[in-house]
Amino acid sequence: MNPDRDAVRDRYATAARRALTGAGTGLLTGDRDAGRLGAVHYAGVELPDEVTATSLGCGNPLVVAELKPGETVLDLGSGGGLDVLLSARRVGPDGRAIGLDMTDDMLTLARRHAEQAGVLNAEFVKGTIEQIPLPAASVDVVISNCVIALSPDKPAVFAEIARVLRAGGRLGVADIVADDTLTDAERARRAGAVECLGGALTIGRYRMLLREAGFADIEIELTHEVGDKLHSAIIRATKTIPVVAMTAGHADRVPAIYQAGLDTGQASFETVAPDWKTWDAVHLPDHRFVALDAAGSVVGWTAISAVSSRCVYEGVVEHSVYVDPEARGRGVGRALLAALIASTESAGIWTIQSGVFPENTASRELHRRAGFREIGIRERVGQHHGFWRDVVMIERRSTRVGT
Ligand SMILES: C[S@@+](CC[C@H](N)C(=O)[O-])C[C@H]1O[C@@H](n2cnc3c(N)ncnc32)[C@H](O)[C@@H]1O
Repeated sequence: MNPDRDAVRDRYATAARRALTGAGTGLLTGDRDAGRLGAVHYAGVELPDEVTATSLGCGNPLVVAELKPGETVLDLGSGGGLDVLLSARRVGPDGRAIGLDMTDDMLTLARRHAEQAGVLNAEFVKGTIEQIPLPAASVDVVISNCVIALSPDKPAVFAEIARVLRAGGRLGVADIVADDTLTDAERARRAGAVECLGGALTIGRYRMLLREAGFADIEIELTHEVGDKLHSAIIRATKTIPVVAMTAGHADRVPAIYQAGLDTGQASFETVAPDWKTWDAVHLPDHRFVALDAAGSVVGWTAISAVSSRCVYEGVVEHSVYVDPEARGRGVGRALLAALIASTESAGIWTIQSGVFPENTASRELHRRAGFREIGIRERVGQHHGFWRDVVMIERRSTRVGT
């Protein structure tokens, strides 16, 4: 059964108006609810009690959101604003925390809470989660707490989340989900379609809709039971990054991203990126990939070169992976390495190897997560800007090819 949006709005408008008079929301008042829903998930947060008391959530999405300073975070169905205010503190003055809600009185309550808490980098916007009034690719992280289950059109919600997130952007939500064994008829009989319960998706369908909307790394962790065959869950997923074969059409961006990497001083002994023609000549023609952002611009590339002409080494290659500094921390490198590994393995290549400066901890971690091991450190291999530098030798030996 799909919840009725007007009934949902009326319920939360009434709750917000009550809270604005200081009488509390009037929801989640029973002992059973108080132990499982609302403020119970926010013990110890540094916000005024009247803010935490208006929480109507079923978990705490911030435990999985991993917000970083400077990020833009969007809370779908922000209610009294608790998660937005906590997010605003985590993303700091250079970041933005945006709460979206369709209920005017909830927006009034949330703005009052922001003022009471002295939070300046939070804003509250009116709109529905099925038609988010924000531009495409403008958000790093989408959070939500006990709202998506209330939507009458979940595919539209997931499509909208995918639209507003940047490539590699993250989703971290608390929501109600139903056991896969719950039939539609049983679901329809569940009381409380306006209380996140009757409209809950089954776990399998949640996963499928996210996948169809372009999400990967989907995790659905059940946290506690909220009814017969109904659970509160924490759901996380990442918007996939399109990775496509590199063509000559990418000839301008590939050397530019290469140069930006060299300029960090941590990518290579080289200091000046070669032009496209030289680059093209030294890399093997196959297994070249670029990652794209939502606008189709290249934000990273990977390619390989041969390590030896001896046929015994035909399954061994050396790789490079470079990510535009503007797109770092969004999973671009991970997506490129995944594409490179799949492509090289299907062509019978069994070892990918390279060298990384020891100080380049981000690259070492990226490769470790992609299954590379560190063989050891070659000391004082060469001079870089007048200093001798060590190199960590890394390799990924396939367990599928050449076994
Ligand atoms: C259960 S409350 C959760 C509020 C808040 N996330 C929290 O944790 O306290 C649901 C909120 O979502 C809003 N809401 C429900 N459906 C919505 C929709 N389709 N679009 C925008 N807001 C919606 C309601 O107005 C209400 O403020």
